[in-house]
Amino acid sequence: MQAKGAYPSFTSRLAFIIAAAGSAVGLGNVWGFTYVAGQNGGGGFVLIYLLALAFVAGPAFMAEMLIGRMGKASPPTALAKLQASTGSRLRWPSVGWIGLIGTLMVLSFYAVIAGQAMYYGLIALEGGFGGWSESAVTKLDADFKANPWAMALWSAAFMAFTAAIVSFDIRTGIERAGKVMMPLLFIMLIGLVAYSGHTGDMGAAVNFLFGFHEINFSSRLFLEAVGQAFFTLGVGVGGLMTYGSYMGDDVRLPRATFWIVAMDLFVALAAGLAIFPLVFASGVEPTAGPGLVFLTLPIIFAEVPGGAFVAFIFFLLLTFAAVTSSISLLSPTVQRLAEARVSRPVAACLMAGAAVMLSLLTVYSFAGGRGVYPLAAFGLNGMTAFDLIREGVSNFILPLSGLAYCLIIGWALKREVVRAALPMAEGRLFTLWYGVVRFIAPLAITALFIGAVVG
Ligand code: PHE
Repeated sequence: MQAKGAYPSFTSRLAFIIAAAGSAVGLGNVWGFTYVAGQNGGGGFVLIYLLALAFVAGPAFMAEMLIGRMGKASPPTALAKLQASTGSRLRWPSVGWIGLIGTLMVLSFYAVIAGQAMYYGLIALEGGFGGWSESAVTKLDADFKANPWAMALWSAAFMAFTAAIVSFDIRTGIERAGKVMMPLLFIMLIGLVAYSGHTGDMGAAVNFLFGFHEINFSSRLFLEAVGQAFFTLGVGVGGLMTYGSYMGDDVRLPRATFWIVAMDLFVALAAGLAIFPLVFASGVEPTAGPGLVFLTLPIIFAEVPGGAFVAFIFFLLLTFAAVTSSISLLSPTVQRLAEARVSRPVAACLMAGAAVMLSLLTVYSFAGGRGVYPLAAFGLNGMTAFDLIREGVSNFILPLSGLAYCLIIGWALKREVVRAALPMAEGRLFTLWYGVVRFIAPLAITALFIGAVVG
């Protein structure tokens, strides 16, 4: 137990790494990565994504955690403290507030997708999918989407689960959830890859993900790849800043960053190697989009041996991945409310409730509003409310907040101050990271946005 009233902290370095890896590994790795890679033609997209991880999102990820550790408070408060230490007149906390809004935006669609994963997991547990006809699977998806109440209810169930974990203090809630779910997630994932290698067409999957195909280098492809890199690490909404504020000074941040990014990448690629072999073996297109894991894949589960069990493991894995991320998404607002003396359970329920309300926009986009494009008049035709929220947060809020973190660490704070906050970092490594955060990442993000506007 921690002393009452003390600022919360994780019990150990490992506990922090597991929690942060839990935040990074999420729907973005399994549902997002596979469908975005599928739609963007595989190999070339993966290459740009890797570069974006190494030179832009990864270094920004470390910057965000460091800001949290230096500020030891919720994102707006931590940023206010750092601002005060420099005498800058820019309003740093606004970056924190925008992040808090971003957490609710991510949760709003996260909950719907995770809710569907829970629902499908339950169906599989009852023996569903195995031996089903294709039309039965299509009907399941269509019926679910035709029933906004069911979608909203499952989203609410998922958020209730998330809120329950966050209600506890850090060590008994978030920390324990990660320690239980993350190892299971890795075991299930490795099992699925082995299964797919055995049953599916691994060669075609490897060629699709790593082979060089004709790539259409557009500014949109870059934006999607960089957006995906930020999203998958969870940089830019303050979740990592909050976890960073709970970490001890003994955490070696560069090393922790390396391991977390490596785990995150491993899960994305392994998810690709679990899903695409089955997709190719059954001769369907990998470009199905957001429906890849809820429509294409279940149709395949219906055909393969042991389909019901495989489906259950897959959807359980997806649910675990989602929960360990959503608890990090609920943490910043809950920590901020705790600073205003709202108890954790009350704060968690309030913010989960807000996320459920917002999730109705995604529910609507998947149900009756499939052809409704709210901002069509502004040239954003063809984008539902869900598309606008997802792309708005991952392609704009995350990279722009990431840019702000880099500018804070690289330019606004003095080099000695940043160096002193990373006492154990090896000199050359520090210089390299500092240079990337100061120059490369900000330039890359700026170029990206100029490209997106011009192109
Ligand atoms: N990284 C998570 C994923 O890949 C999503 C996330 C975004 C988590 C932002 C925290 C903050 O699904």
